[in-house]
Amino acid sequence: MEAEQIQEEVGALAAHLQRIGIRWLPKPQPESVAKLSAEIVGAVEELPASSPDLSSAPPASPTVPAGPPSTTSRSEEPRNRPPSVRPANRLASVASVEVSKESYPGASLSSDDRSSALQQLQLEVAECTRCETLSSCRKTTVFGEGASSPRFVFFGEGPGADEDRTGRPFVGRAGQLLTKMIEACTLKREQVYIFNTVKCRPPGNRNPEPDELANCRPYYQSQFNILRPEYIVCLGSVSAQELLQSRLSVGRLRGTFHQYHDSKVLVTYHPAYLLRNPAAKKAAWQDLQLMLRDAGIDIKR
Ligand code: URA
Repeated sequence: MEAEQIQEEVGALAAHLQRIGIRWLPKPQPESVAKLSAEIVGAVEELPASSPDLSSAPPASPTVPAGPPSTTSRSEEPRNRPPSVRPANRLASVASVEVSKESYPGASLSSDDRSSALQQLQLEVAECTRCETLSSCRKTTVFGEGASSPRFVFFGEGPGADEDRTGRPFVGRAGQLLTKMIEACTLKREQVYIFNTVKCRPPGNRNPEPDELANCRPYYQSQFNILRPEYIVCLGSVSAQELLQSRLSVGRLRGTFHQYHDSKVLVTYHPAYLLRNPAAKKAAWQDLQLMLRDAGIDIKR
């Protein structure tokens, strides 16, 4: 293995561990990554020439079999992690990330602290009256739900009527399709986190206004900062344009990774759009497959 490749992999592993809340790790500074990888390179170079070729060794973790996930084996999975993660594959496409942005501010929290921070923020959101119209029309706020240390988050536009009634994101028809999309990725809803740009239903299901997005921005930014996911899936143009501060269409933004702090951002079609335009489902599945390949999750279909 080349020294440069080792350095890249050590850096990515350190960043990943920190992102999921392993707090005993120092922040992966370039110098400590370089020092650690130099030690590994040194150790590799000291191996006798007759060392067996490890490149053909089977992967440490099994690959995901084709077909739907088994409920029993899934529940035995370690916290929020899909079973087949192959770091070497994951690193292969790091270079395709467009823009490198600053890391998430502050320290990464432990899983328990993340849950408490989210609960506290949820209470704050429930009292919010920043948007006169939205706060007076809503039945309830829809904060978001899911794992507190997710590898993947799904970021939608705003609650609809079903979400407004239940207080849960993506539970209506579009939500049912989103659940199917998540399951097609061999994940369960509980393993990911799902939330929206705005926490209150825009009346008549209109798009959120720019001032409403701005009012809710600190809330979703705090959620991302707590969650620090590896991947963010923006569902539709509203969430994509808001998160990436772009005016480009989904058609222009999809097909590549963008960056939001330490997270890779994938843009795809909103499930409500897919319900109206089933022909676009193929493209949405291609988008998810791009992410799964990058994440080292093997989907044989
Ligand atoms: N559409 C969204 O964008 N979010 C939801 O929570 C439901 C439908």
